[in-house]
Amino acid sequence: MSFTLPALPYAYDALLPHMSAETLEFHHDKHHNAYLVAMSGMIEGTDYASMKLEDICRKSFKDNPKLFNQAGQFYNHIHFWKWMKPNGGGAIPGKLESKIKQDLGSVSDFRSAFIQAGVTQFGSGWAWLALKNGRLEVMQTPNGENPLVRGAAPLLGVDVWEHSYYIDYRNARPKYLETWYDNLVNWDHVAELFEAAS
Ligand SMILES: [Fe+2]
Repeated sequence: MSFTLPALPYAYDALLPHMSAETLEFHHDKHHNAYLVAMSGMIEGTDYASMKLEDICRKSFKDNPKLFNQAGQFYNHIHFWKWMKPNGGGAIPGKLESKIKQDLGSVSDFRSAFIQAGVTQFGSGWAWLALKNGRLEVMQTPNGENPLVRGAAPLLGVDVWEHSYYIDYRNARPKYLETWYDNLVNWDHVAELFEAAS
């Protein structure tokens, strides 16, 4: 398989005032593309070249950490763009909301746990809502790791690498995460992934 960089699903300035065009230009055009270029170079001529991206992530996590760093990040960012939308945030679709209440207490408990997972991830990484063995879990992962390599389906993930927020928020990671959750999350997409994984 050959992989390409997916276009952003909205204009570079569509997430203002919460995420700037400059951040998206660097993050999508430079960082995401760099993961693609590095991954493509490493899989060329190997068994990995014929695999689906999800399988490249799962296998390389076990046997090729350098490839995993690139493939994991290429995968994570494909979804990160879709987990945001202009005028996002707000109400969580009913079925997913019920499941959050069942497994995680309340929507407010979940919001706090998700943001806290991002705040307390030391260094670079991600915070997640994932479905594992039929239950929702909040996870935090270092670097390019994701729920796939922990036997779970990622439903929502937020990038806490500094390249995701430093231009707009400087060192204020908690403010970035609160703003991201309240104003940018595309809950319809999260609900679709929940349906597909259930
Ligand atoms: Fe990133």
